[in-house]
Formats: sequence, structure tokens, C-alpha cells
Amino acid sequence: MWWQDAVIYQIYPRSFQDSDGDGIGDLRGIERRLDHLAWLGVDALWLSPIYPSPMHDFGYDVSDYKDVDPVFGSLEDFDRLVAGARKRGLRVLLDLVPCHTSIEHPWFREHPDWYIWSDAPNNWFSAFGGSAWSRLDGRYYLHSFYPEQPDLDWRNPELVAAMQDALGFWIERGAAGYRVDAIDRLLKDAQLRDDPPASEQFGLPLSQEEAKLALTHSRNAPDTGEALARIREAVGDSLLVGEVYLPSAKWQPYLEHLDAAFAFELLHAPWDAERLHAAIAAATRRPGAAWVLSNHDFGRLVTRFRRENARAAALLLLTLPGPAFLYQGDEIGLADGPGGERAYDRAGRDRYRHPMQWDASPSGGFTTGEAWLPPVDPEATNVEAQLDDPHSTLSLVRDLLTLRRLLGEGIELIDAVPGVLAYRRGDHTIAINTTGEDRPAPLRGEAVLETAPGALRGRTLAGHAGVITRSDERVGHP
Ligand code: GLC
Repeated sequence: MWWQDAVIYQIYPRSFQDSDGDGIGDLRGIERRLDHLAWLGVDALWLSPIYPSPMHDFGYDVSDYKDVDPVFGSLEDFDRLVAGARKRGLRVLLDLVPCHTSIEHPWFREHPDWYIWSDAPNNWFSAFGGSAWSRLDGRYYLHSFYPEQPDLDWRNPELVAAMQDALGFWIERGAAGYRVDAIDRLLKDAQLRDDPPASEQFGLPLSQEEAKLALTHSRNAPDTGEALARIREAVGDSLLVGEVYLPSAKWQPYLEHLDAAFAFELLHAPWDAERLHAAIAAATRRPGAAWVLSNHDFGRLVTRFRRENARAAALLLLTLPGPAFLYQGDEIGLADGPGGERAYDRAGRDRYRHPMQWDASPSGGFTTGEAWLPPVDPEATNVEAQLDDPHSTLSLVRDLLTLRRLLGEGIELIDAVPGVLAYRRGDHTIAINTTGEDRPAPLRGEAVLETAPGALRGRTLAGHAGVITRSDERVGHP
């Protein structure tokens, strides 16, 4: 299983590399940057949606599952990208958006019964705020996200067959699998019962209204597994990683059909050793955790954990057992930006989506035109400047990707003093100091990687730092 310990690099296609000067990234641009990804040492790339879309949710509102949006290129460009990636030993994953289509998908007009309708709305909320129901021609259709994203009915066999067809289409074209979007919302209560009030809520629900309800009926229906089985059927043994927005204790039905689920408990944990320890312990109770600390919905490492902790956060992400997802820009310590003059995403996520910065030029080397969102700080943060600097974030991430291959299987969390997260993977011990002060760390052997030079003195780890040590226990034994 190639993905078992893979590092999968998330590309937000609009913002990675523009090749035609329209200020929006595209597939040919990604192709041009494949050498960077191969040099960095990642195993695969995951592309956020590239399908035709009116872009109300920037591609997560799909209007044709079997084509490429002209803004990103063509099917031929996709084939070239896959071929170029393959030549460099890289796999390409796509983003499957099975929960809803765009309201402009022809299916919505031609096959209204592939969607979910009601004569009267219940109390379900959309993840982006407001009722999850919108009125059309005297009835209401369900949308778990924007009103432009009507929810599909996965209990309708015709819809299932159409989706299976689309799923197979990309696998045949060379995609190695899918990150599966919003999969906990795939099936909801068939009787559309109201959600009861919440006694406790997991993580960060996207809207405040939702936080008041236990989302017991509006998502995660008991027959979800049947739909997941149909998805699995269509992709064979290709990789399926689920955006299962549920505590890991509820993963089981998903992991019966998907290979892995994002451990959102860790993504939402504050930068605090005890909380991180608890989140990792919960998510590793069973196999199947995929790790993510940043993405196009929640922002980048430097901003989420503050600049002084970002290198240790990269070390954490890249030393846990199981596939890790690295968001574009995190390898150079790119920060979230202010967004542009005009707001594109109504949920306020533009600031996580500023373009990748390749060089110090005003456009950051992203485009020859005017970038759809301006670059944040290309002069201060860019790939070119960090390439030959052994202390750069880029060098750190590259070293981590090399070292990661030497780590032992599984994980053993170790008790440490407050403020220190520590775990063992075979001969290697990893320790991270989430405080700003020196702390003793339960390490063994010699440091093989530090997030800052001299961060480890004896067994004392400097504030904000992370370290990997290696002990060869066989030494000294007969
Ligand atoms: C997922 C995507 C997010 C999108 C939503 C609706 O959470 O990551 O960007 O808005 O699904 O498709």
C-alpha cells in the first residue's frame, strides 16, 4: 500500500501556478512545478476540485464530474499532468465531491429526483449558516452547504450509477484515488427528522447555529456504509481518504470502505502538548488516521500555530504514523493573507488561499498577469530564496520527508513534563516543546534533526522547538 506512510501535497489549483497569464492557476502550471514536488520528496499530489464549476464554492460546486473547468485547462492537460507526475514517481489524487452538485449541474433540472426535497423545511442548518433548505417552485431542496450546492440523494440507484461512472472515469485516466469531500454529510435521516439540541459538540462546526444542535439526523445516517460501498466498488483499490468531520470514535463505518479519515481532532487541538497528546491517542486507537494540520478551509501552519511554533508543527505533521497531508506553501512557511480587495468566498476563506510564492518578484512567480488574490509577502517568503539555505523551512521540510522514511512502525506516546509532547517510533524519539521556555524532554540517543540549531542541550529542549533523536539499542548488546 503505497499510501501507508505517504506525504500527500495539497494543491489548491487556483493558487499554485498560473501558466497563461490570466491570474488563476491551472494544470499546465502545476505540470511546470512537478520538479519542485519531486525534489521536495512528496509521494503524491491531491488537487482540490478541477471540474467545471460556476465557482460559488470554488470548485466544490461541480457542474460536470467528467471534465476540467476551462479556467484550469482541459482533459488533455490532465493527462499530461498525470504522465509528468508518473515520470517523477508522483501520484495524482482528485477531490471527489459526492454530497452535492452545483445548482447549475444539468442533473438538477433533468433529474430532480436525484436530489433531496421536502414540502416544508426542518431545523437543519447549512454549514455556512442559515437554513439548509431553499425554496424552489413551491418545494424546498436541501443544501448542507451554500444554496448553490443542492444535496444529492444517495439512496437513489440512478444517481449512484451516475456517480460510479464519474468515479471510474478519472481512475481510468490515471488518478490514484480521491480525497472524499464532506463524506459525513453523504446520507442524512431518511425521514428528515429535526436535529435535537446539542449537549456537546465536536470540533469546530462551520456555523454558529449548527453548534446549538446535535447533528444526529442531518448527517452520518446509519446506512452511510451502503453508499460508501458503492464508491469503493467504482474505484477498486485506489486510495480513498475521507473528510469525515466526526470524532475518530465514530470512524468505524467509514473505515470499512475508505482507507483513511482525516484526524480533525488534531487539526482543531490548540498548540498545547497535553491536548495534542490526547488527540493523537484518540486518533491512533485504530489504524486509519490521515494527518492534516492546515488546508484551504482552516489556514496555514504559520498563522494557525503562530510563526514561532510553525516549524515544530511541520515536524509533528510529518512524523506521525500514516499518510500526512501537507498544504501548499507550508513548506516555505507561507502565512495566511488578508484576502483581496473583493471577497470571493462568502465563508471568509480567501485568506487561506493566496498564491504560492516561488520567487521574490512582485507576483511571487505565480503569474505573469494579475493574481486573482495578491501574493502575501513574496520578497520575504519564497521557494527560490530558501532552496540553498540549510536552515530554511523548505530545507527542514525536505529533511523531514527524508527522515520520515526511517521511522519505525506505529507510535508509542510517552509521558513527559507538562508542555512537552513526546512519542517513539522504533529507534526514533520525537519531542516537541509547545511552551516558550526550556523543558526537559524524555529523549534517547543523539539528535538527528532539530527545528532550530542548538535547540537540544543535553536533555533540555528549547521553547517552541522540536527534535528527533535516534538511539541504536542494539549497540552495546552482545
Ligand atoms: C469541504 C471542503 C470545503 C467546501 C465544503 C463543501 O469541507 O473542504 O472547501 O466548501 O466541503 O463542499
